[in-house]
Amino acid sequence: MCKDKITGAPESTPQIFAVPCANNINENCFSALYQFCSSERRQKVKSFQFREDACRSLTGEALIRYAIFANTQIMENGSSFITNSYGKPSLPNSSLQFNISHSGKWVVCAIDRFDIGIDIEKNRNVSQDLSSNFSPEEKELLSECTCEKHFTEVFFRIWTLKESYIKSIGEGFSCPFDSFACIPGKECTVELKRYNQDLPTRHLKTLSVEQGYSSAVCTTEKFKQIAVTIISVSDLIGKLGIGIYL
Ligand SMILES: CC(C)(COP(=O)(O)OP(=O)(O)OC[C@H]1O[C@@H](n2cnc3c(N)ncnc32)[C@H](O)[C@@H]1OP(=O)(O)O)[C@@H](O)C(=O)NCCC(=O)NCCS
Repeated sequence: MCKDKITGAPESTPQIFAVPCANNINENCFSALYQFCSSERRQKVKSFQFREDACRSLTGEALIRYAIFANTQIMENGSSFITNSYGKPSLPNSSLQFNISHSGKWVVCAIDRFDIGIDIEKNRNVSQDLSSNFSPEEKELLSECTCEKHFTEVFFRIWTLKESYIKSIGEGFSCPFDSFACIPGKECTVELKRYNQDLPTRHLKTLSVEQGYSSAVCTTEKFKQIAVTIISVSDLIGKLGIGIYL
């Protein structure tokens, strides 16, 4: 386990993998991923109305399994994942934790030895009502925005931080958004304020994936800035050794 050289406190060493163009994969890649994924994933994929959602969903499971393989050299079966009562998937009998998020053309995955949450969102115009359950500090930051573009950027920066937190603790939207605040500081730094002291403390950072997208990662222990490893769908298929379907 990594430790801070000065304090000796444990440090997170999260890895981030990101797949671009995951919303529009060709038929060969689609069927390779479909064959590779668990029967549960295939069922889910069949229920989607839009192909984009099916593409991101298949890529998501493949990316998780690749990230686990890169850390353990074990190719897990997607059917062996367990979920908590809010739907957060994890590996049984393993300290390795992972989380994924998908939006627009991106699927991102964070993996670490500690609880982890990640979120990505394509920046888009949103109604101010969506920030109604932000904290007073977060609302103040939004009120200082000078134009709609600036508002959108600040809104999604805060939104993705908050979502990475609720995904890290595994509760999803069952955790009220106004029970804590994520206040972005200089560069990628973030201050977390918990209004409900039962909520666990966490460490957060914003991530840079692509202009026009906001993203954030949240872990239990401090971590230094992390690089995002970009991997194309075809490289992912190659690394998983499932190109025989191509
Ligand atoms: C988790 C949640 C915040 C994600 O919202 P989103 O912005 O639509 O989705 P993202 O793309 O960022 O993340 C989706 C991924 O997060 C993971 N996930 C699901 N539930 C999660 C949870 N409670 N905590 C953390 N991660 C979760 C899954 O891997 C999911 O991917 P998949 O749908 O392809 O399997 C939202 O779906 C939620 O609140 N879920 C909880 C619902 C719940 O309480 N269900 C109870 C009955 S199971």
